[in-house]
Amino acid sequence: MAKEISEIHEPVALDRCLDILGEALGGDTAVYVDCTLGLGGHSEAFLKRFPNLTLVGIDRDTKALELAGQRLAAYSDRIHLVHAVYDEIEEVLDELGIDEVQAILLDLGVSSMQLDEADRGFAYSYDAPLDMRMDTTTGQTAAEVVNSYSEQELARIFKDFGEERYAKAVAAAIVNQRKSVPFETSTQLAGLIAKVIPFIPGKSSGHPAKRVFQALRIEVNGELEVLTRTMPAAIRSLAVGGRIVVLSYHSLEDRITKQAFAAAATSSAPLELPFELPEHAPVVRLLVKGAEPASESEISKNPRAASVRLRAAVKIRRAA
Ligand SMILES: C[S@@+](CC[C@H](N)C(=O)[O-])C[C@H]1O[C@@H](n2cnc3c(N)ncnc32)[C@H](O)[C@@H]1O
Repeated sequence: MAKEISEIHEPVALDRCLDILGEALGGDTAVYVDCTLGLGGHSEAFLKRFPNLTLVGIDRDTKALELAGQRLAAYSDRIHLVHAVYDEIEEVLDELGIDEVQAILLDLGVSSMQLDEADRGFAYSYDAPLDMRMDTTTGQTAAEVVNSYSEQELARIFKDFGEERYAKAVAAAIVNQRKSVPFETSTQLAGLIAKVIPFIPGKSSGHPAKRVFQALRIEVNGELEVLTRTMPAAIRSLAVGGRIVVLSYHSLEDRITKQAFAAAATSSAPLELPFELPEHAPVVRLLVKGAEPASESEISKNPRAASVRLRAAVKIRRAA
């Protein structure tokens, strides 16, 4: 039997997101921006809980927008679903005539739908064209990356974005193999990686291709550059009193989130100045200490929650 959309993806840290962002949604009207609409799991819960809410749902994946649109059809009079990359948040709001918003959610990474769709090439376990683009209408595919980047560039990506110890060896093997047979499929690449990365009993965890596939996905979608540009833009878009939650699933994206929040939560007054001018005062206050993991009970019900790290902030003043 086909799965209902609501069964496919259990929204991560949903109760925490509703509690933290809900504090800013009590007014007569409120705008909530879901920068990573996905299948609309978080958005549906917000629309249900807050009848005064208008949703702006952004996703770069047209398939996700289509499915979320079906799921949220009952709320069609208070939703705007937009095909965009989330670093375009200010342009999206501008187009909709919205000056500032009360809540923003970023639930980073790929959705379980993208991973489960065999033909997208995200998973090393399916034989599929090596694509990995979240937005299949534009940009370079993972096959183009592995077939055209230099050995040094590939090694850097595998090391920086995958924290892969065997980055250089995998890059060398790829460059050697593609001289005779260019890479077209995910299993072709996963098979080669399994030959290069040794399996060490008791030390190796997961499939040997896991880290290289993560690295390629991050490169293909420009995930870290996009997130770095998005954080200040998202904070600018918040009304004073507005709140933002970011759910990260690996240390690289969590580090970017942490640094962006720390920069906005710290006074920018020069050290030599004996007092703080109003324009140097922090723009946000952090709402959780450090990065919050999911509860044991959530992890036992939803394995995807095991790696989540939640950070949140409230806007306390408008920047000049
Ligand atoms: C983890 S899923 C979100 C799931 C969603 N919270 C739910 O409950 O159904 C992440 C979604 O964000 C989208 N996405 C990732 N990076 C994006 C970006 N830079 N701009 C817009 N959408 C992005 C992906 O296409 C995917 O659909």
